[in-house]
Amino acid sequence: MTTILQIDSSITGEASVSRQLTNATVEQLARQQGNVRLIKRDLVASPLSHLTLGGSGDADVLDEFLAADTVVIGAPMYNFSVPSQLKAWIDRILVAGQTFRYGANGPEGLAGNKRVIVAISRGGFYDEGNAFEHVETYLKGVLNFIGVTPEFVHADGIAVGPEQREAGLANGLGEVERLAA
Ligand SMILES: Cc1cc2nc3c(=O)[nH]c(=O)nc-3n(C[C@H](O)[C@H](O)[C@H](O)COP(=O)(O)O)c2cc1C
Repeated sequence: MTTILQIDSSITGEASVSRQLTNATVEQLARQQGNVRLIKRDLVASPLSHLTLGGSGDADVLDEFLAADTVVIGAPMYNFSVPSQLKAWIDRILVAGQTFRYGANGPEGLAGNKRVIVAISRGGFYDEGNAFEHVETYLKGVLNFIGVTPEFVHADGIAVGPEQREAGLANGLGEVERLAA
């Protein structure tokens, strides 16, 4: 039995490209791995609050992450970064002593036993090094920080036009199909 945690953060519901990709990813993993327990966290249907000083009372969010073998994260680009709903989730996951610690050699990630797959959907096209790209670079950075090497699938050009939308989605679904078992 393996536990998959699916995190969605798109506000566009049925029309969401990132949600199509996270669903396809979970289906693919379930086909490959068989006995799967799926936990879904929809950060739009049930938003987390901003952090406040003195604790959030959201230890269940961290526990759910720690207990998952695989985490599938839907990450649409909103104003060049992740949705604030997803940022609020990350704020519950990066916790000193739980997912990272500061040792003699600097920060050390503690969540390296997890597989994390991130499904990115972006309206435009972002070559590597594009100064406006703060979704993939940001998530790679924070996940590396906690010891995880994430895998990414991408749907790009979604807002350029209907043809590009279709091609972008097809590209993302193709990347999902090629995910390793
Ligand atoms: C509020 C909002 C902000 C957006 N900002 C950007 C942006 O800065 N850059 C970009 O390329 N696309 C932007 N887009 C387009 C989305 O990234 C694109 O539509 C993507 O498919 C969204 O993922 P979703 O289909 O899962 O909702 C934005 C869309 C919305 C709704």
